[in-house]
Amino acid sequence: RAVAVIMVGGPTKGTRFRPLSLNIPKPLFPLAGQAMVHHPISACKKIPNLAQIYLIGFYEEREFALYVSSISNELKVPIKYLKEDKPHGSAGGLYNFRDLILEDNPSHIFLLNCDVCCTFPLPEMLEAHKKYGGMGTILVIKVSPESADQFGELVADPNSNELLHYTEKPETFVSDRINCGVYVFTPEIFTAIQGVSTQRKDRANLRRQSSFEALQSATRSLPANFVRLDQDILSPLAGKKQLYIYETRDFWEQIKTPGMSLKCSGLYLSLFRYTSPHLLTEGDGSKSATILGDVYIHPSAKVHPTAKIGPNVSISANARIGAGVRLINCIVLDDVEIKENAVVIHSIVGWKCCIGRWSRVQAEGDPSAKLGVTILGEAVNVEDEVVVINCIVLPNKTLNVSVQQEIIL
Ligand code: GDD
Repeated sequence: RAVAVIMVGGPTKGTRFRPLSLNIPKPLFPLAGQAMVHHPISACKKIPNLAQIYLIGFYEEREFALYVSSISNELKVPIKYLKEDKPHGSAGGLYNFRDLILEDNPSHIFLLNCDVCCTFPLPEMLEAHKKYGGMGTILVIKVSPESADQFGELVADPNSNELLHYTEKPETFVSDRINCGVYVFTPEIFTAIQGVSTQRKDRANLRRQSSFEALQSATRSLPANFVRLDQDILSPLAGKKQLYIYETRDFWEQIKTPGMSLKCSGLYLSLFRYTSPHLLTEGDGSKSATILGDVYIHPSAKVHPTAKIGPNVSISANARIGAGVRLINCIVLDDVEIKENAVVIHSIVGWKCCIGRWSRVQAEGDPSAKLGVTILGEAVNVEDEVVVINCIVLPNKTLNVSVQQEIIL
């Protein structure tokens, strides 16, 4: 039997995701028309003998209640949200709920970061993990050497796939193989986390008894129950024949910023071609809008037949798209109105926004540049014939003149 745990973090973690995380917990932000956390959850369905999925975070319970009950019904897997009273770190959060997780007597525990976008090859990882016979197997990808330092960099044995060395976000280059934030463990992981916690407590006791200042400053930092999976577990266990890697050749991205969410929405739409083609909209002749490439349109959205939409567009519930509108590479959230002949390119249009006639909302489209994607927060009103280029606009603003390269507070 297996159990899956998805780490969703909490309100203090999603700050780079503003202004979109002002309205909704980041894990529930829609990518390809489905909550961010929906994608790892639906990937968990492929795990053989899956008993339960837990989401662990420190958001208020009520923020997840509705989503969790509807997704458990839809996918017919038991899913529970477990709330930490405060952040315990990525391993400490898991350890906090060990009794509950072990109730199902799992032989394997999958652990997934919620803010990564990939194909989640979980059954393949499980097979590899059983073959290696270690305590844990880490999903790994090769990235460009310039971008590797934002992640955990690691070195593995090319023959046995054993993890030999691990450094979290190093200042000097270690390797272009990085940690994808997706793992499978045996229950021994809890013993390892407990070990770190006990060590911290012992040091704290020692500190209390000792008067050495040097020792004090070196050990003051972290509470005993705050344990980070990467620095505190993976680094010390590397090279001890306990951890192994599984390298993916599919896509993988991290979703920390709104710009990256637009890119990842497109990646998930392209994956839907294989996994859920029924979610993609097909242009079907003269009565409906022209559809190009991968597009998701919520059934309640109203799109004028003369609009032209795609590629990489997702349109959420109750949006109204007027005549002659052109949408390319964008996310249009619930209750948005886009009036006649407006154009939206490389942008995210927040809940209840209104874009006027003949207006343009666009960007140059580089998801890694700060203003490379234009973001309109909730209820922004762009009046008729206004051009908005490379901007981030905070909620409830009205734009009646054209703006470029600005953060509008
Ligand atoms: N429940 C809970 N409680 N979740 C947490 C906590 C916590 O105290 N701290 C972090 N998380 C969640 C985050 O929401 C995220 O999904 C995941 O755990 C990892 O977050 P961080 O610890 O902030 O690390 P990171 O995202 O900067 O980097 C990690 O992931 C990268 C892959 O995306 C590292 O493991 C890197 O090595 C890795 O490359």
